[in-house]
Amino acid sequence: MDYLRNLKVTVFGGTGFLGRHLIKYLCDNDFIVKVPTRNPAKGYFLQPLGDVGQINLIKFDISDNEKLKNLIKDSDIVINLIGILYEKKRNDFFEIHYDFVKRIVNNIKLNKNFFIQVSALGVNKFENSLYSKSKFDADKYIEKNLKKFLIIRPGLIFGPEDDFFNKFAKMSLFSPLLPLIMGGKTKFQPVYVEDVCKGIIKILKKNIKNKIFEFGGPDIFSFKELLQILLKTINRKRILIYIPRKIAILMAKFFQILPNPLLTEDQIKLLDNDNIVLNTNYTFRYLDINPVSLELILPEYLKRFKKY
Ligand SMILES: NC(=O)c1ccc[n+]([C@@H]2O[C@H](COP(=O)([O-])OP(=O)(O)OC[C@H]3O[C@@H](n4cnc5c(N)ncnc54)[C@H](OP(=O)(O)O)[C@@H]3O)[C@@H](O)[C@H]2O)c1
Repeated sequence: MDYLRNLKVTVFGGTGFLGRHLIKYLCDNDFIVKVPTRNPAKGYFLQPLGDVGQINLIKFDISDNEKLKNLIKDSDIVINLIGILYEKKRNDFFEIHYDFVKRIVNNIKLNKNFFIQVSALGVNKFENSLYSKSKFDADKYIEKNLKKFLIIRPGLIFGPEDDFFNKFAKMSLFSPLLPLIMGGKTKFQPVYVEDVCKGIIKILKKNIKNKIFEFGGPDIFSFKELLQILLKTINRKRILIYIPRKIAILMAKFFQILPNPLLTEDQIKLLDNDNIVLNTNYTFRYLDINPVSLELILPEYLKRFKKY
């Protein structure tokens, strides 16, 4: 696909879990990649993913409008992967998920830049959660104001550096119990990080625009089943303990005080709805991608937690 060769792409949030995989795919497809980050030194691990000079880390604060404008002006494609799972004093959901995206959109030249926003599965359904509402408001703003955009809504993403399976695997090392919030009935459709990247690259190659894609894996599991698969994978027996909603909220009120909370009230609201693909038009199937199953990949990267 020669028309992609040497296109300039700026990836906000490129130092994160999805970012590190996507940047490898972008480099393999001959893009020139800029990664604005709060801390370029922490992003040096990205450099070997591309050829010399192919990846450029740039110190950037999301409040710096002038730099934002210049970065966008100098890009053919802008990808936003910046997201947070819980709020901190200086980072609230609307500031990170909505205001920043709105400022990207306002700086985009309508016929020049192509904007790809990574949102999340179900944001259009869970408006009672601030995480979802802030992301959904951003998605609506993009749809309303841009001519060349793409919105990707992935389900729970799994892969070597994921937050979900690594966190519960770590917890199982020191705790005899694992929590099943509201019985662990909420359904998820975990998607492999490499499949999300393949999807984005395929969309770029096929020159698809102005669509909302939902990316989910081949199987749907309840939260309880996910923990059972995890425990089986690492060969550990733990008690799965039922936590009623009211107790979970009390626990979250305590955890929220901590710097890296295990659970927040907003996350409990997310568990009120299943997190599965509902839009059947624009999915992996549309792109002829067969997503990989969780059970095939999990044993590869959870080896270090396995009891032999
Ligand atoms: N992981 C999942 O299961 C999942 C599922 C559905 C949707 N998503 C969405 O997919 C996107 C990527 O997810 P991810 O798991 O790769 O996220 P991640 O690992 O948490 O990384 C996100 C990046 O956001 C940047 N960031 C975080 N807080 C920031 C702040 N206050 N100011 C500026 N930058 C900030 C960080 O970049 P620097 O530290 O370099 O500045 C970080 O590298 C997110 O929008 C997320 O909501 C993820």
